[in-house]
Amino acid sequence: MNVTIVKDYESMSQEAAKIVMDQVKKKPDLIVCFPTGSTPIRMYEILVEENAKGNVDFSNVQVRSVDDYVGLPPEHNQSYAYFLDQLFFSKCNFNPNNIRLIHSCAPDMKEECRHYARMLEEEGGIDLIIDGIGENGHIGFNEPADKLMDRYHVEKVSEWTRKVNARFFESLDEVPKFAVTVGVLDLLEAGMFLILSNGTKKAEAWRRLFHDEYISADFPASLLKLGRNVHCILDEASASLI
Ligand code: F6R
Repeated sequence: MNVTIVKDYESMSQEAAKIVMDQVKKKPDLIVCFPTGSTPIRMYEILVEENAKGNVDFSNVQVRSVDDYVGLPPEHNQSYAYFLDQLFFSKCNFNPNNIRLIHSCAPDMKEECRHYARMLEEEGGIDLIIDGIGENGHIGFNEPADKLMDRYHVEKVSEWTRKVNARFFESLDEVPKFAVTVGVLDLLEAGMFLILSNGTKKAEAWRRLFHDEYISADFPASLLKLGRNVHCILDEASASLI
């Protein structure tokens, strides 16, 4: 696990955008999974600006999913597909045919996950996964539990995460109870797994990650310690308890 600590949110976002641009330059048909949440918003803004200036070309980049809520169609304003499209995909020169997100409203989600995993395997695996970290240590929607699932799967969203994410919905009742998410082996096998974190809210999670001497399913972020290709960019506030 490789850790870079930078001054603030802006530096974290600049650094992350630079990594994405470097990876796309090295491999124009990069297979990449982009996250939602508050953390990557500024990184997306920078990438939109750089794309407009012609400094990065997304036309051959292959986009895949980190996660999404089960049951929210892509046109629902709280689906991750919608969030990413509004903020990022539609503002850059992505080829819509290259954006293949997992269908979170498929009639048989288990089959959809199997199909998605097969597709990625045939494509040779994910080159780059970007994600944030939950205050409770979740990664993607891999929530604290007694076991962690290896591949894309449906996960019950913890009550803790539902409450945190309720800020995006009219009420807590509207927050979906299930999500589909990348699994832990998918994360660890990616060419690069880039984790972004800003703010003091995440500081306790990083303290635990660095100070616990074990890896445990009830703190999914501890799996980051297993990855050779894991790169974390933290701002000083997130790193303040390390
Ligand atoms: C989002 C995702 C989540 C978030 C995490 C942090 O696609 O996979 O794991 O990265 O919940 O969310 P924010 O960035 O809102 O603090």
